[in-house]
Amino acid sequence: TNKKLWGGRFQTPTSQEVDQFGASIYFDQLMADEDITCSLAHLHMLAKTNIIDQADADQIEAGLKQIQKDVAAGNVKFSYENEDIHMNIEKLLTDQIGPVAGKLHTARSRNDQVAVDFHLYVKRRLPQVIDLLKQLMATLVELADQNVETIMPGYTHLQHAQPISYGHYLMAYYQMFKRDCERFEFNLHHTDMSPLGAAALAGTTFPIDREMTAKEIGFSQVYANSLDAVSDRDFALEFLSNASILMMHFSRFCEEISMWASYEFNYIEISDAYTTGSSIMPQKKNPDMAELIRGKVGRVYGHLTGLLATMKSLPLAYNKDLQEDKEGVFDGFKTIIPSIKIFMHMLQGISVNKDKMYQATTHDFSNATELADYLAAKGMPFRQAHSIVGQMVYDCIVKHVNLQDLPIETMQEYSDLIEPDVYNDLKPEVAVQRRTSLGGTGFESVKHQIEQAKADLA
Ligand code: ARG
Repeated sequence: TNKKLWGGRFQTPTSQEVDQFGASIYFDQLMADEDITCSLAHLHMLAKTNIIDQADADQIEAGLKQIQKDVAAGNVKFSYENEDIHMNIEKLLTDQIGPVAGKLHTARSRNDQVAVDFHLYVKRRLPQVIDLLKQLMATLVELADQNVETIMPGYTHLQHAQPISYGHYLMAYYQMFKRDCERFEFNLHHTDMSPLGAAALAGTTFPIDREMTAKEIGFSQVYANSLDAVSDRDFALEFLSNASILMMHFSRFCEEISMWASYEFNYIEISDAYTTGSSIMPQKKNPDMAELIRGKVGRVYGHLTGLLATMKSLPLAYNKDLQEDKEGVFDGFKTIIPSIKIFMHMLQGISVNKDKMYQATTHDFSNATELADYLAAKGMPFRQAHSIVGQMVYDCIVKHVNLQDLPIETMQEYSDLIEPDVYNDLKPEVAVQRRTSLGGTGFESVKHQIEQAKADLA
């Protein structure tokens, strides 16, 4: 009854469960517009090169455009019996204009067709990701600008290490998102390449014009090798890899935001609009969005490892395995785009408890390096200074005091190089301010980073 478009060689129909299991229309219908756009380009080329008659091309064009409208309006019913978006649209076209529809598939295979659709799908969406990342970077710069002199504990091993500027901390993430942005830009370069015209795998005997179709669709290059063109999914892997690294950055940031919003840290408060309550505990204000973004990292990593596993050992050229390439990428976009937006809005609404952050640097030993540096600057070998200050820290712990609480006479028992000006060096804000080495947390250095970033973004 419903004979397949490729049914000529078959005596009996495929089993229904094969149709259901083999179909990709459930998800590749998301590429309907890409499929029609690429078909129109192919059609124009077939007419221009006289591979098909202009009159036939006109009929096909009218049919495709009608289907494009119907799809946009949501008036099209796709069916799994027609397997995928490519054959569903060809079937709709055939129903509409009759057997002349069959001329559209001249000098083309579903192998280059699916590849070109998928490239276009990714190419159309990467700029949105890049644009959102630039907005996020601008947000970070703005927040950093307001917090150059906000002092907080810097950590290593999650232990107080040395005081830093909160602006400096924010600019660290700026740099990560900047690299993410550059990776997606490079990804776009590898996606901006047309496989159309590779046909099944070997090219075609028809006098096609691949440059013409590439240009009409908006690709700046064509694949140089037809086997590579239909087999390559590097652009999809690059996207998922870039998305994974981006999400990894979010997961680190979200982890810190969740910790800092806790009672124990109390460095920040997330706005009501970006937190949620509990159904049982009336006092709760949970950092749900930070947790959910952190949680979604897992699914993006999953898509990357899934596609890497699918691609492993696949012989050239097209294999049906490749149908597994799309869902992860679709979901990848569906995950990272709102993640970037929500994260950015959450960040904009965070209020910083500057006092709590500062206080956390005054009841600890994060100024111990300052004292060691003080002695080293006065000529003591740094190793010896480190050892003396280590002893001082130990004695302070026993006495329940901090380094700056020791009277000058006590300090001088450890080294006669210590003079009263040491107390200034031990202040957290002085420790931060003085770290003006290139890329350091000193106020001037952070301002320099911010100026540089503003110039980059402009
Ligand atoms: N639905 C297929 C996919 O997503 C389209 C290409 C099928 N080509 C083929 N020769 N079976 O990969």
